[in-house]
Amino acid sequence: MSRWQSMRRHLVGFTLNGRQVQGEAEPRMLLSDFLRQQIGATGTHVGCEHGVCGACTIIVDGMLTRACLTLAMQADGCDLRTVEGIAPSADRLGVLQTAFRRHHALQCGFCTAGILMSLDHFLQHNPSPDESKIRGLLSGHLCRCTGYSPIIRAALEAAAELAEIQMHEKADA
Ligand code: FES
Ligand code: FES
Repeated sequence: MSRWQSMRRHLVGFTLNGRQVQGEAEPRMLLSDFLRQQIGATGTHVGCEHGVCGACTIIVDGMLTRACLTLAMQADGCDLRTVEGIAPSADRLGVLQTAFRRHHALQCGFCTAGILMSLDHFLQHNPSPDESKIRGLLSGHLCRCTGYSPIIRAALEAAAELAEIQMHEKADA
């Protein structure tokens, strides 16, 4: 295969936060760049571009994924969730987002999209986490502004609130 052929663009399509999207990607294009440049989904941030900072964390087919370590073509046909899909509606923040705002758990916000995605996924699978588990999760994310304490407080509060919501939903079912 010639160099020109190997750089040809391919159509890549997937479900993004419940909506079907598609764009063109060279074989080497990163999913993080594809989301931002081809789809216009700029909520996913790009920091280190080698899997360390966690800013680009999204959910692909139910799995936490570093979008900077994934090729756009690998996401073809998958189901993606990004920070744009974390709020229940355009004019309402989700429980985690509200807790972050209440506790001032962000300053510049660069790391926040990835942290929210990790915590959202984590709390779905660990409804009653203790602080050490949250600290463990956050060890995969670099934040240069907050010092982490407000993030931990927000995560614990959101976990308690989500557990209460679940309890009421079960009681009403
Ligand atoms: S940009 Fe992907 S982990 Fe840093
Ligand atoms: S809020 Fe600035 S890097 Fe985390």
